[in-house]
Amino acid sequence: MTTEEMISKLDSIQGEAVAALAQTERVEDAIQVKNRFLGKKGQMQDVMKLLRDLPNDGKRAVGQASNAAKNAIESAYLERVEALEAAEVERQLREETVDVTLPGRVFTKSNGNPLTLMEAELIDLFQELGFEVADGPEIESDFYNFEALNFPDDHPARDMQDTIMLENGHLLRTHTSPVQVRTMLAYELPIQVISPGRVYRHDFDPTHSPVFHQIEGLHVDKHITMRDLVGALKAFVDKCFGVGTKMRLRPSYFPFTEPSAEVDIGCIFCGGDGCKVCSHTGWLEILGSGMVDPNVLRGAGIDPEVYSGYAFGLGVERIAMLKYEIPDIRLLFDNDIRFLRQF
Ligand code: PHE
Repeated sequence: MTTEEMISKLDSIQGEAVAALAQTERVEDAIQVKNRFLGKKGQMQDVMKLLRDLPNDGKRAVGQASNAAKNAIESAYLERVEALEAAEVERQLREETVDVTLPGRVFTKSNGNPLTLMEAELIDLFQELGFEVADGPEIESDFYNFEALNFPDDHPARDMQDTIMLENGHLLRTHTSPVQVRTMLAYELPIQVISPGRVYRHDFDPTHSPVFHQIEGLHVDKHITMRDLVGALKAFVDKCFGVGTKMRLRPSYFPFTEPSAEVDIGCIFCGGDGCKVCSHTGWLEILGSGMVDPNVLRGAGIDPEVYSGYAFGLGVERIAMLKYEIPDIRLLFDNDIRFLRQF
């Protein structure tokens, strides 16, 4: 190609490109057209490959012409994109209306997991009764979980079946009772605490989860007797299940309390007549309790001749399942929004 032929070729490329850009209806199309002419494999590039065959003054002339063509296509492109974008805004303003009088969309959310609600409710309740909240670790030593609680070495609760042992020799606490020992060692007397938290056992069925929640209660002072225990528990039962709910203590055994008692309430489903939930006994077991064993007090540096105390431990899942009539413990952990919304 001669210099003149190349200049006229550039001229026609420019004309074609500007015309094609003017035809585009969308920004994406304008980008494509621009690339077809100015891109690395575009028509402009094809022509410029022939540049090296020209004499020097021809090169200069074609170079200038190609710059002018490039600039013209570039600005035609920018102009077109601007026009298309403005048209799009116009169209949106014209066609896409928002009815500001429509009611807003309501977001439904649950109030929280019933377990969390139950725990918070119980903490409130015991705080009203004068208990302070104490905390303890979930990873425990054998000492706090068993030994200091007067568990004999061969006690079945130490069995690997129930206790989840860790490789470092520690364990996941099987109950909140180790916090009894921790608070007795750390706090000034008198002590009146509850300790809510997670506990772990090797156990899984419709009423047992390997991770569950307990609230421990401990009251140590001079002259604490079984009457204080019964009074506190009766106040708790009245507040939690309604004034007048029947309550009874059944003799039981825990290594760290003496005497020990399991506490039942009159079945809240059948009123004591007997039904499936209470296995036709008319009673529902809700917690374990007792007077702190003198060995436990002594081990924590407290003189059992001067001080005495009671302790209790309740399962939060069990209370929640009874109160909210939840048939399967796994519902509490599934996080199914259809279930959670009901609370
Ligand atoms: N720690 C006992 C359990 O998990 C419950 C309990 C607590 C019993 C305090 C007596 C006193 O079964």
